[in-house]
Amino acid sequence: MKPNDVPIITIDGPSGSGKGTVSREVARSLGWTLLDSGALYRLVAHAARLQKINLSDGLSLARVAQSMEVRFGSTDFGDARVWLDGQEVTSAIRTEQAGNDASKVAAERSVRTALLDRQRGFANRPGLVADGRDMGTVVFPEAGLKIFLYASAAERALRRHKQLKEQGVAATLAALSLEIAERDLRDSTRAASPLVASVDAELIDSTGMSVSSVVARVLNFARGRLSI
Ligand code: C5P
Repeated sequence: MKPNDVPIITIDGPSGSGKGTVSREVARSLGWTLLDSGALYRLVAHAARLQKINLSDGLSLARVAQSMEVRFGSTDFGDARVWLDGQEVTSAIRTEQAGNDASKVAAERSVRTALLDRQRGFANRPGLVADGRDMGTVVFPEAGLKIFLYASAAERALRRHKQLKEQGVAATLAALSLEIAERDLRDSTRAASPLVASVDAELIDSTGMSVSSVVARVLNFARGRLSI
């Protein structure tokens, strides 16, 4: 089946905009597949660290991106789990360090190209919710609904701080704000697929909005745009 026969919702935006949670909830409520494309970049960076590959060695990184064996799954409680070459790496790829490493390997054009087919392979019936930075602009330009989700940098740092605290991870708000600003700058100024809203995307500013109201807004757009 061609990918464009499958209904696709792309949800792009900066770190901490709530994309991950919103995408998961939208996919769950529609019964569609979820593509967490950020996890793929995190996995490339993690595999590269394990193999002692330099994070700016584009060719070796692309080889890793092509050959790594990835499995997404979930626990009985519905929590996401991910395996890399047979090893569970769910928490290892969620650290701040892994996020920063991911943003470095993601700036390599060869890595982005190497991950294209893998990402497009997620487009299966009954539908796909694709979460990332370039889902609507590069990976699924034919998607029937494109969302660009953002929130103020201050709110994104606060959300991340709360999330880390809940996980028992120590972090200061000031350090997180700085990291978010650095990552935003790297993601939006890189030459290969920079983070920008697709011209045909619906913009949602989630500052001060609850997850459930953002999800409701996305589902509303979906009902109007896609035959669901
Ligand atoms: O979304 P997440 O925080 O897991 O993404 C980690 C990093 O991977 C981002 O900071 C970004 O640099 C990169 N990324 C990307 N393109 C995507 C998804 C993630 O460049 N589609």
